[in-house]
Amino acid sequence: MRDLGPVLGAYHPVTAYNVHRLRAISGLDEVSFHMSGTEAVMQAVRLARYHTRRRYLVRFCGAYHGWWGDVQPGVGNPSVARDTFTLKEMDETTLEVLRSRRDIACVLVNPLQALHPNAGAPSDSMLLDSARQAHFDRTAYTQWLVKLRAVCSERDIALIFDEVFVGFRLAAGGAQEYFGVKADLVTYGKTVGGGLPIGVVCGRRELMRRFREDRPADICFARGTFNAHPYVMGAMHEFLTCLESEELQAQYRGLDQLWDRRAEQLNRRLRAEGLNVEVANLSTIWTVCYPQPSRYNWMFQYYLRAEGLALSWVGTGRLIFSLDYTDADFAGVADRFISAARQMQQDGWWWSSDALTNKAIRRRVFREMLRAGGAVPSDRSAHPAAGEVALGNKA
Ligand SMILES: Cc1ncc(COP(=O)(O)O)c(C=O)c1O
Repeated sequence: MRDLGPVLGAYHPVTAYNVHRLRAISGLDEVSFHMSGTEAVMQAVRLARYHTRRRYLVRFCGAYHGWWGDVQPGVGNPSVARDTFTLKEMDETTLEVLRSRRDIACVLVNPLQALHPNAGAPSDSMLLDSARQAHFDRTAYTQWLVKLRAVCSERDIALIFDEVFVGFRLAAGGAQEYFGVKADLVTYGKTVGGGLPIGVVCGRRELMRRFREDRPADICFARGTFNAHPYVMGAMHEFLTCLESEELQAQYRGLDQLWDRRAEQLNRRLRAEGLNVEVANLSTIWTVCYPQPSRYNWMFQYYLRAEGLALSWVGTGRLIFSLDYTDADFAGVADRFISAARQMQQDGWWWSSDALTNKAIRRRVFREMLRAGGAVPSDRSAHPAAGEVALGNKA
């Protein structure tokens, strides 16, 4: 393929290999390629609406599914997402809503939320105080997905796993394999493009069809100039071939135990030194929490940077490790992490006092923002406005 260059003729055979592998990985019948994770989610939802002939999509509080308006009804989207319900995850009343309504086309699940159900990404604005908590309970989340699956099957609602983030981190077969629950449609992105832009939808045959047998002119349109771009297909081929290798498959064995042990070791060291930081993890995806109330948690990222650890744009709240980290690699990170926390403590940014509560910090920040005349952000994705969750009135 490398010799052929950017050919825009018929599909190169590597595309067939990629489709074959993605079908095997997802356990689903058909595959479509898109240019980003956002587009893959758009297409999965569009197909679900088309085939169920229903209007609403359900997403869960705090879950990110790309920047398309229907899946981002909160901050950053100037219009109202009228066809979206934002419901509470791991909650019985959500199941009741799904059971009682007849107009829900699909439910979108981002399995990353298992680490912090109903809460958004740990951005710096989330860390203005220390109230944020995270804890991954595999059994509880699995039970939730099993119940969700049952209700969706009962009500012919398409269950979509958006694995664009967790993709191939948890298991070679993704979140479906990891939690032992089958979805009707699955989206993949990021890694699966081997470093190039990608979005993939895998789905059951009946849901992937873009026309109706009895009305062939009634189509579900989806296109993209660069869909299945030869460079992307080539890079994906490399990734999927690599994924098949015994070396990579071996890394998945015992992955959770390895990363749980590393997280526990780090937490033990942090506790032993009385530092105001702790980590929670979903396998290699880690989040940083701050047990004592503090207004300066966001500064930790600069202390980490001074130690040579640059975090992503998300800020002080997240670490995502490569699967192939050795114990020595990890020890290097842990040592720097501890040094950074020690230095921040020594510099006096963390202290405790009876007056210093998370509530007091939030109030104060709110007052300061009002005084400064800035708009106070309302995270409607974590706390949906009434208009977005019109429960029970349209059943
Ligand atoms: C779960 C999930 N879905 C969708 C997306 C959007 O993917 P992209 O940035 O490729 O549009 C992301 C991106 O982070 C994601 O994490």
